[in-house]
Amino acid sequence: MRKSLQFIVTAVFLFVQQPFLTAASRAPVRAHHGIVVSDDPIAARTGMEILQRGGNAIDAAVAVAFTMAVTYPEAGNIGGGGFMVVRLANGTTETIDFREKAPAAATQNMYLDEHGNFLPEKSTYGHLSTGVPGSVAGLLLALEKFGTMKRADLLQPAVTFAENGFPLTYEMAEKFKRVVPEFSKFPASMKQFTKNGVPYGEGDLFKQPDLAATLRRIQEYGHDGFYSGKTADMIAAEMKRGGGLISKEDLLSYEPVMREPVRGTYRGYEIISMGPSSSGGTALIQILNILEGYDVQSLGWNSAREVHLLAETMRRVFADRAEFLGDADFVKVPLPWLLSKKYADERRATIDSLRATPSSAISHGIPPAHESDQTTHFSIVDKDGNCVSVTTTLNGLFGSKVVVDGAGFLLNNEMDDFSAKPGAPNMDGLVGSTANAIVPEKRMLSSMSPTIVLKEGKPFMVLGARGSSRIITSVAQVIINVVDFHMNIQEAVDAPRIHQQWLPDKIFSEERGLSPDTVEKLKAMGYDVDTHSYSAIVNAVLINVQDGFLFGAPDARGSGEAAGY
Ligand code: GLY
Repeated sequence: MRKSLQFIVTAVFLFVQQPFLTAASRAPVRAHHGIVVSDDPIAARTGMEILQRGGNAIDAAVAVAFTMAVTYPEAGNIGGGGFMVVRLANGTTETIDFREKAPAAATQNMYLDEHGNFLPEKSTYGHLSTGVPGSVAGLLLALEKFGTMKRADLLQPAVTFAENGFPLTYEMAEKFKRVVPEFSKFPASMKQFTKNGVPYGEGDLFKQPDLAATLRRIQEYGHDGFYSGKTADMIAAEMKRGGGLISKEDLLSYEPVMREPVRGTYRGYEIISMGPSSSGGTALIQILNILEGYDVQSLGWNSAREVHLLAETMRRVFADRAEFLGDADFVKVPLPWLLSKKYADERRATIDSLRATPSSAISHGIPPAHESDQTTHFSIVDKDGNCVSVTTTLNGLFGSKVVVDGAGFLLNNEMDDFSAKPGAPNMDGLVGSTANAIVPEKRMLSSMSPTIVLKEGKPFMVLGARGSSRIITSVAQVIINVVDFHMNIQEAVDAPRIHQQWLPDKIFSEERGLSPDTVEKLKAMGYDVDTHSYSAIVNAVLINVQDGFLFGAPDARGSGEAAGY
């Protein structure tokens, strides 16, 4: 009798608690009005303050991005580039492509030796690895088109943090220390990131007076404060010193581009994401289109069967990425075909439901004849429902490792995202074709996938990630976790993930992301499984379409923050 009473009490307790139970993940941050989710807590709070002062999501995005150039120098930048996806409360959608470009003096074989061998160090390290930066132009264009506040006010937090300094966290000081051997070839980088050659430690005040002066020039002169005048002179002088290619003319002629987003649907949800020069949105929609044909939920989350279908889908999509994706201003990307449900049906039909298909047996699709990692992501929603999804990058951690002497900022090593030689893997192991070959003034292909998901026509998720090729597969898995497995947004972001990118022919799993018996089953299906890999870092907002509450989820893999009010 007592036992059955205990059972009833437990059952009632569980029933009542059910809506609040989640897996081993903290609750997402809940906000009423506005929220900023960023890899950097200082920037997240700066963005929230802009929202509280009456700025809109685009104003906040501009302040967050410039602040991160100071407080998160491993990836936040003015010497790199990125992408922004905007959905305004009135339903307007827009994207801004501020990806870096190849300098005019770049040549297709600039990273090959005389025997035609690819020299990866040249495309990843030092002056020659740098593309013409786009961040400043892109952010200022976003402000001009969609913002409401003054440029000077939005740059002021960044100037203040650069001038007055901020205490370094343990993680950041350790990262600086780790990169000292690579900084050591460049005196300006050593000056910026060490105390006369001695590494900074946790709690040290990190001041950047040269960067503060550069930001003040942008504050005062806008676009011209970076792309001409003193800053441009210093970039050109730095290039000359280190044998780089960027000229003053390259800087003067750099323009960001406003482009139509790529669009798709997944089980009734609308997906709005970034088109070329990123492969991110296209590949994301392709993955979701193929998976839509399966009852993913019934397979069970992270089961061997589900992982198999994810991996086979990703394998096919990355084979297409390698062949077709590149800067659409230079090459014809067959987007309508790649994004179509019909093509997804054809690709799905080649998947064996029980066995892995080796990547050597998978090629890109054939279009119909008539159709001719470091990065950072932040997501913002304001009180009016304007949504901004921004991913920006220097490419590698601290980019090329080159600081522009006197200007105090790091330059990107984005040239490595070109396909320097067809079939030769870049630092992310990605291969490409002539669609992504180096051409002067062309944008190198990206995997960045800033995305906005609509439910019943209203904003539902704003998300994106850092992590190169893993960005695409991570954003897809977070969407699947929410839509198919009904996870709350924090759980969906934190859950272990897998990755497959055609070549190398492996499933990559995070440490302890797959159980040993799941790995065994996958091996029996024909997979090579790397269980010591890593995933991307996602930062997401979910909007409850019924009551408008905002739920912010910084990825547990990083040290970011959701700041809302
Ligand atoms: N640099 C990483 C990317 O653009 O995908």
